[in-house]
Amino acid sequence: MTALSIKDLKVQYKIKDKLINAVDGVSLSLEDNESIGIVGESGCGKSTLGLSIIRSLSGGKIESGDVLLDNKSILTMSEEEFGKKVRWKEISMIFQGAMNSLDPVFSIKQQFEEILKEHHHENENHLEIIKKSLDSVGLPMSVLDKFPHELSGGMKQRAVIAMALLLRPKIVIADEPTTALDVLVQAQILSLLKKLKKEGMSLILISHDLGIISEVSDKVGIMYAGKIAEFGTMQDVYSNPKHPYTQALLKSTPKIRGGSDLISLKGNPPNLASPPSGCRFYDRCPQAMEKCRKEPPTIKTKAGYVSCWLYE
Ligand SMILES: Nc1ncnc2c1ncn2[C@@H]1O[C@H](COP(=O)(O)OP(=O)(O)OP(=O)(O)O)[C@@H](O)[C@H]1O
Ligand code: SF4
Ligand SMILES: [Mg+2]
Repeated sequence: MTALSIKDLKVQYKIKDKLINAVDGVSLSLEDNESIGIVGESGCGKSTLGLSIIRSLSGGKIESGDVLLDNKSILTMSEEEFGKKVRWKEISMIFQGAMNSLDPVFSIKQQFEEILKEHHHENENHLEIIKKSLDSVGLPMSVLDKFPHELSGGMKQRAVIAMALLLRPKIVIADEPTTALDVLVQAQILSLLKKLKKEGMSLILISHDLGIISEVSDKVGIMYAGKIAEFGTMQDVYSNPKHPYTQALLKSTPKIRGGSDLISLKGNPPNLASPPSGCRFYDRCPQAMEKCRKEPPTIKTKAGYVSCWLYE
């Protein structure tokens, strides 16, 4: 069953008189117990997409499109209804850099308690709820008396994941959950995400690193300048990348490409305040043609789609 559908979502930020089209017509479906990876260069709109789903955009506005949870729009809900029924209970998010924004003056226990109080769990046995969550990330109850600075990076990240799992949501959005962690701790966090998926959770994993995404995800959306350039099963995109941007990303990803020389992608993504008309990858694409100056068509592939004139 489809757990979450994103339909032609457009999100803008306004800075002075400029509009930034951070997410520009993204459509995706997440099935129950599925893991989708969203990958792309810095500034391509990955976090904005995640924050839009959980309605926690700061300064941004959803211009159009919809997000359906179990076939019901969650964008048309009042903020009160969304906060009560959906945020943290049905969908939660591990925010980018969250482990570094744990409040240094409160113990881990106080920070868990705060979430439970906010969600009106005053009368329940807090310790029992917290224990379940800590168990699932492999942390002992003794961390509760600690302050953030007393925990290692890996333990802090686990604590943040445990907080996101506290109300047992069925969908978790994890935004760069392994960035800034050393490779051994990265591997622990990735196997934790795999374990949570095995236990029935659906996952949207956001990363700039295709290698990380390939470890955990069933499907992958390659995002470029606010749009999904290619979407498909991990296996398909990995073995038969269609979009020239996906091909370039694979060539510059060490873990996937193994022993061969890495090829870096030259140039920068376009300015999202004034994106070029037509294909946004035009200036960097080795296969660009004259017709690419027009918006590329979206072509169905085996288990997804690609947005490129080459496959018309
Ligand atoms: N609060 C904000 N106000 C104004 N512009 C923003 C804001 N947040 C993001 N942007 C802009 O929106 C675009 C997409 O940003 P976003 O953070 O979603 O990208 P990202 O893919 O998550 O990048 P990164 O990999 O660096 O985390 C960028 O051009 C960014 O500068
Ligand atoms: S539409 Fe054209 S410019 Fe864009 S990725 Fe495809 S071939 Fe390259
Ligand atoms: Mg981000």
